[in-house]
Amino acid sequence: MRVKITVPATSANIGPGFDSLGLALSMYNTVEILPAEKLVIRSTDGCPILKNKNNLVYKTIKRLYDICGKELGGLEIVQTSPIPFARGLGSSSACIVAGLLGANALLGQPLTRTELINIASHIEGHPDNVAPAMLGGFVASVMDEDQVYTCKVPLKDKVSFAALIPKSELKTEVARGALPMEVSHKDAVYNLSRASLLTAALLSGNLEHIHAAVGDRLHQPYRMRYIKNSSEVFQIAQKSGACGVYISGAGSTIMAILRPDDTSFVPVVRELLNRKGLTDWQVVPLVSDENGAVVEEFD
Ligand code: HSE
Repeated sequence: MRVKITVPATSANIGPGFDSLGLALSMYNTVEILPAEKLVIRSTDGCPILKNKNNLVYKTIKRLYDICGKELGGLEIVQTSPIPFARGLGSSSACIVAGLLGANALLGQPLTRTELINIASHIEGHPDNVAPAMLGGFVASVMDEDQVYTCKVPLKDKVSFAALIPKSELKTEVARGALPMEVSHKDAVYNLSRASLLTAALLSGNLEHIHAAVGDRLHQPYRMRYIKNSSEVFQIAQKSGACGVYISGAGSTIMAILRPDDTSFVPVVRELLNRKGLTDWQVVPLVSDENGAVVEEFD
């Protein structure tokens, strides 16, 4: 049997929802997995993926086989990876989700998607990318000791997005290492009030409050310095008509939330970035993905 898994990019945190809010986007990695004599890993698009047992898709497949007490033989894994690596768009989550869904299909579907979200969140350490990658839409998650609780709500047509993606990467370990061990009560209230307002504003389609709701004091202020020209890019996006602007996941992408009918933001931002010489920033228009990862099985 051959299994093909298509996994959306994701944007975690959405400003104030550190490690809890995330959404799925219309950019997709695909992974094809089939039994083989030995381990062969290929990329169709020249993406520099690991081609040995340290490959994240392979490691995740192996993890699920181990959990299920099954022996893993040889495999051919073929990856197509347009989601850029280490830019806060969920490229590692896409590998983890593809590995778990692929392994689950090869094993005859022993686990539910909820159980797979639980495993994926523990592998990644936080649920805010893997949950929307599995489910699509806007997802709020809570990671308790052993259990991950998720709630997905469709976003379709309520908003659109533009990802401002720099050439430079920012590894999640570095971006997490920049965070303080403790925050003040005032900053906690600042974030929880905004995460609540953001959720209500997105779900109701009341976009007027998004600019206030995407404010954050738990991670963005500590990460901005690791993303070259980020303050300037924030300002450009804000004055070009974005409803809200935030660092996607751990960065380095800066995400703009747009009205669904906004056709001027992308050309205006491209022009302003060019004018300022910020030519290593790419502007990618996106919409919300509502389906989450899709698994196809072939005989
Ligand atoms: N919530 C995580 C973080 C997302 O901000 O570190 C990382 O992809």
